[in-house]
Amino acid sequence: MTYKIDDINDALKLLKEKEVVAIPTETVYGLAAMITHEEAVKKVFELKQRPLNHPLIIHVADASFIDNIVEYIPDYAQKLIDAFWPGPLTLIFKLKPGAISTLITGGQDTVAIRCPAHPKCHELLTKLATPVVAPSANPFGKVSPTTAEHVIQSFADKSFAVLEGGRCPIGIESTLVDASHSDHYQILRHGMITSQEINNITGLQPNQEPSDIRAPGKLKTHYQPQTPLYYSEKPEVLTQYLEKSSQPTYLIAWEKPKHHSLNLFAKLSKEPEKAAYQLYDYMRAADDAGVKNCIIILPPNEDVWAGIRERIIKAGQPIEESK
Ligand code: TXA
Ligand code: MG
Repeated sequence: MTYKIDDINDALKLLKEKEVVAIPTETVYGLAAMITHEEAVKKVFELKQRPLNHPLIIHVADASFIDNIVEYIPDYAQKLIDAFWPGPLTLIFKLKPGAISTLITGGQDTVAIRCPAHPKCHELLTKLATPVVAPSANPFGKVSPTTAEHVIQSFADKSFAVLEGGRCPIGIESTLVDASHSDHYQILRHGMITSQEINNITGLQPNQEPSDIRAPGKLKTHYQPQTPLYYSEKPEVLTQYLEKSSQPTYLIAWEKPKHHSLNLFAKLSKEPEKAAYQLYDYMRAADDAGVKNCIIILPPNEDVWAGIRERIIKAGQPIEESK
């Protein structure tokens, strides 16, 4: 049985004994193993049922460790580290050959690194003094967990510890930036650190060319709830869908239509930070409601909403509008 622990020292002991431990971060819970314990890293892939060619993010206590494993830190990336670490920003660097197990990098010549701000996670990493890998603690392709209970629910038939760290304050995964080139960068996964904030710090526009590295955005579906999810940018399209549908449908929207059941409605905030905090919980609520479909408003195509839009688009399909 997967079980909860509270004490950081218990988590440290397990990690050092080559066990996998789910840990809280400010974005979502991660499934952690020490980077030096190949067997434990393998177990992370197995538990998630994740293909071996999907590399893992290394989580560090502070930036000082990264010189050991990266070839170089571009100037713009150093500015991003100074501005956003610890915090929800993952940077991909050129890997120093042989510095870490190829299992972690999926055999690529790059490595993704993040320095989490969650106090309990930070304390754990500082005391451990060795970084951990930590993909989101969900089965491959499914919705990421924002509480210890979510992790336990998803892995009820497995056996590892989950370090209790409360509700993750951000609620969606970190922004992922390819910093493997010295003169340009690219955003591979949007998060709550926006492209505008990154431009402001680096003074550079992101490269728009297709990236030359394999990235999460390349997968067509991701972040999927069990209940089929459909989206539209137009509230009236959601309402029309509800009017036509004969099936009970869960609605995630700005406003509840008059005749729709309150039990099958979740009000999405118009503030991006709050909406990010709500999003995965609402998708889980739709699953728990046992409905046939879930429909969701797609927030506007604006930079501050990019992370949330990306999650919705990957989790669902557009509602076909009737002529
Ligand atoms: O907020 C987060 O980033 C969470 C928490 C737990 O830290 N972690 C997370 O990890 O979202 P994961 O593995 O679920 O997503 C990381 C994505 C993966 O899709 C992976 O393919 C990509 O980052 N990635 C990791 N290393 C990479 C690399 N060297 N090159 C390209 N993509 C990489
Ligand atoms: Mg993930």
